[in-house]
Amino acid sequence: MVKYASKLSRESIIDIEGIVSKPDMAIAGASQQVDVQVRKLYCISRAAVLPIEIENAARSEKPNEDGQNTRLNNRVLDLRTAANLGIFRIQSQVGTIFRQFLLSEGFVEIHTPKLIAGSSEGGASVFKLDYVKGQPACLAQSPQLHKQMSICADFGRVFEVGSVFRAENSDTHRHLCEFTGLDIEMEIEWSYCEVMDIVNSLFVNMFDYLNKNCEKELEAVRRQYPFEPLKYLPETLRLTFAEGVQMLKDAGVEVDPMGDLDTKKERKLGQIVLEKYGTEFYILHRYPLAVRPFYTMPCDDNPEYSNSFDVFIRGEEIISGAQRIHVPELLVERASARGIEVETISTYIDSFRYGAPPHGGFGVGLERVVMLFCGLNNIHKTSLFPRDPDRLAP
Ligand code: 4AD
Repeated sequence: MVKYASKLSRESIIDIEGIVSKPDMAIAGASQQVDVQVRKLYCISRAAVLPIEIENAARSEKPNEDGQNTRLNNRVLDLRTAANLGIFRIQSQVGTIFRQFLLSEGFVEIHTPKLIAGSSEGGASVFKLDYVKGQPACLAQSPQLHKQMSICADFGRVFEVGSVFRAENSDTHRHLCEFTGLDIEMEIEWSYCEVMDIVNSLFVNMFDYLNKNCEKELEAVRRQYPFEPLKYLPETLRLTFAEGVQMLKDAGVEVDPMGDLDTKKERKLGQIVLEKYGTEFYILHRYPLAVRPFYTMPCDDNPEYSNSFDVFIRGEEIISGAQRIHVPELLVERASARGIEVETISTYIDSFRYGAPPHGGFGVGLERVVMLFCGLNNIHKTSLFPRDPDRLAP
């Protein structure tokens, strides 16, 4: 039997029958908790020679470096590391908390179509395809249009957890071609601040829960990829875009006050906020209208700005949200101004013609939340089977 056992390859699956006893501490190592005297041994599944060392994960920020590509080619084995098992258990908890929290706040879970007639977010990052009977179609870049239409249908508050498709054409550490979107949409009474209130209570709740209940998983991730626990406040910091711009200017950074912040500036602002307020999780709101999607509601007091926000972890965006335009005429005007063919979204616009309540919502990237909460440097690490411009398999 010993001879047979010594020929079993690593990662083979075996069944054993034996007698379990306490180990002799003089011989056993400190971590050994039991002795098993094997009586019978069966090989259930024999493993072939492993193409990668399982516990030797790459640390690179780029998907194609340091063997990360080889690991991703052998993702099933790569997923067996303690760190990876930890990452996806944490990811599962994030989804569960998202669901449970929103259900407890009166939200209804919806499932919107992923095959749609026109682009939902505009821009170039849309997968076009042939629908049946030769009709052109797109893969949904977000559930944006249909979650808003669900509000017009009078659900009051809705959320969705589902696949989102973006035809991203470059390899970055934070973009995928397919990711999991956590989306909400809700009627609002007074202002988009009600949506930011949900961001605050949902995420503070989530971070508290993960720190308290996922200690083992976080430790496994930390052993492989050392990181500091996320610093966040019990009440999430909210800064206006103009305040953010001023803070960057004060730090000597040149910024266009009516433009968007690039990744470098977002990271810089994250550092300044951390030094000044001691938090790595904060909301930036009231963005210039010109840098937001066509469906974003302009501010009442100054239409150059919008009732919108982004949320950041460790200087990187995880959420974007806003109040939406619920007035069909304004929606047509804004979509046309952005070069969107209004006919392709006519059923969306028509939804607002029969009484539509003021509403707002946000979209979160699940993989980004986990990546940044765990201080990881690459979104491929938090996508089970990542899709990027060079990867459609496994
Ligand atoms: O900022 P985005 O594009 O906003 C929307 O989709 C809006 N419809 C949301 C809303 O309700 N207003 O995407 C939302 C989030 C981002 O903040 C980011 O976390 C994630 O989705 N995300 C991506 N994650 C991975 N790969 C990509 N290519 C992503 N693009 C966006």
